[in-house]
Amino acid sequence: MNESPSMPVSGIRPYHLSLTREARASIKSQRPRCLWLTGLSGAGKSTLANALELQLNQLGLHTFVLDGDNLRNGLCRDLGMGTECRRENIRRMAEVARLMVDAGLIVIVAAISPFRAERETARRLFAEGDFIEVYVSTPFAVCAQRDPKGLYQAAWEGKIKDFTGIDSPYEAPLSAECEIDTEKRALADACLQLSSFLLNK
Ligand code: ADX
Repeated sequence: MNESPSMPVSGIRPYHLSLTREARASIKSQRPRCLWLTGLSGAGKSTLANALELQLNQLGLHTFVLDGDNLRNGLCRDLGMGTECRRENIRRMAEVARLMVDAGLIVIVAAISPFRAERETARRLFAEGDFIEVYVSTPFAVCAQRDPKGLYQAAWEGKIKDFTGIDSPYEAPLSAECEIDTEKRALADACLQLSSFLLNK
């Protein structure tokens, strides 16, 4: 093969499918939406996404979690942690989340997604009110203290670079729909806050 996989092809027009997103969602009796959890490594995004998905499933809702670590083992395994790769990572997650919302699911994204501009681009893929940004605002010091994967330690020792909060930036949301500090909020409480947000709005 003599071409770059990133070479765009021009002139491809989307095929208009007859079955609407609403029709797909209506047989699931739910409003499909994307809940986007952003925050530092170790903030509790995956734990929260996992617990929330279990709770929503118990309520009979159809869900899926797109977790940064999981996608980086498959769809995004070609991406590193530099700025451009993270942008592409967020773009792919947002596109997949959009497809899943179109398929009728409630999608929970759990990814550091450190850049405001890319999160805003992700938001624009969704209809008004269908993208809910959740800032998992557990402070840096708490995340670094937890260090569940030993990554903060490795970053301080210079063993890994471009680590979020150390030598790579994290741009906190300015107007997220929800904010959860997992240091102050018990897991069950945080899940309740998110599920009531999903069910009431
Ligand atoms: S994102 O910035 O592109 O959104 P993503 O959430 O997919 O990141 O992946 C972050 C995960 O990769 C972390 O949970 C951590 O396990 C791992 N990781 C490995 N290296 C780094 C790094 N340099 N910075 C942040 N996370 C890293």
